[in-house]
Amino acid sequence: MKQILDDITQAMASEINRGKVADYIPQLAHVDPLHFGICVATPDGHIYSSGDAATPFSIQSISKVFTLTIALGKLGDSLWNHVGREPSGDPFNSIVMLEHESGKPRNPFINAGAIAVVDAIMMGHAPKETLAEILQFVRFIANDDTISFDHKVAASEMQHKDRNASLAHFMKSFGRLKHDVDKVLGTYFHQCSISMNCEQLAKAGLFLVSDGVDKHRDIRVVSPQRARRINSLMMMCGHYDGSGEFAYRVGLPGKSGVGGGILSIAPGRGSIAVWSPGLDAIGNSQLGTKALERLVKETGWSVFGH
Ligand code: DON
Repeated sequence: MKQILDDITQAMASEINRGKVADYIPQLAHVDPLHFGICVATPDGHIYSSGDAATPFSIQSISKVFTLTIALGKLGDSLWNHVGREPSGDPFNSIVMLEHESGKPRNPFINAGAIAVVDAIMMGHAPKETLAEILQFVRFIANDDTISFDHKVAASEMQHKDRNASLAHFMKSFGRLKHDVDKVLGTYFHQCSISMNCEQLAKAGLFLVSDGVDKHRDIRVVSPQRARRINSLMMMCGHYDGSGEFAYRVGLPGKSGVGGGILSIAPGRGSIAVWSPGLDAIGNSQLGTKALERLVKETGWSVFGH
């Protein structure tokens, strides 16, 4: 595995077309597009890393997998009264469907959906308490207490919140959000600002590899049914309007973030985190996807076989 990852890292180093670093969050625009890191964590506790796998980056929308898991733990199936579970076929920050569907977001991974999910998690609590809960959960599944928020990134998003604020106010106008919009947004931006490296992220995904259990640590995080369902959502919605393309090329559940990270789950085999800051036109990591495509080709790990 280490050799496969090193070969991929080497191949990615010579790629000219690396996509474009997100700049609508100014704090992310400073990141060097030449970074590339990849890590595979396996259920038996092995960690295989290559490139900049130990360099932290902004996980952004990958955090939506963790808040979804927390929300399902708290609300169970009633979460689906707050958010749907169908692919949207629209960009991650789109508002169009909200008008047609009475303010109910299509799925938990588009921005509107993730905002509705964090509103549901808050349950009358202050943003600080909700954030402490989110961070505690991420630290627990990654088995790493050093993971934290990047307050500069969160502040940068708050300063440029217009689109997300529009989504939130629009949902609130349909009675879809219970809490004050600015409190919900502040919580959402901090959740997205969590800084992790590929090794931490791959470890955090392990519970989705083995039916809800981190086997090496012998810890059950969610039921097998819940793990399967989260993986299904990642497969169908994790890359927004690029989810079909990701399934076609990689064939694994995956969740991208505009920081250039992707967490991808090969059920029964391993949790893969890859990071390359340049994004494609849809907002998913250009080389991250390419690297995963190559990894499944070499390993046969796609859920659809070779
Ligand atoms: O709300 C936003 O726009 C960002 N915090 C997260 C968006 C994101 O990561 C989309 N993913 N590719």
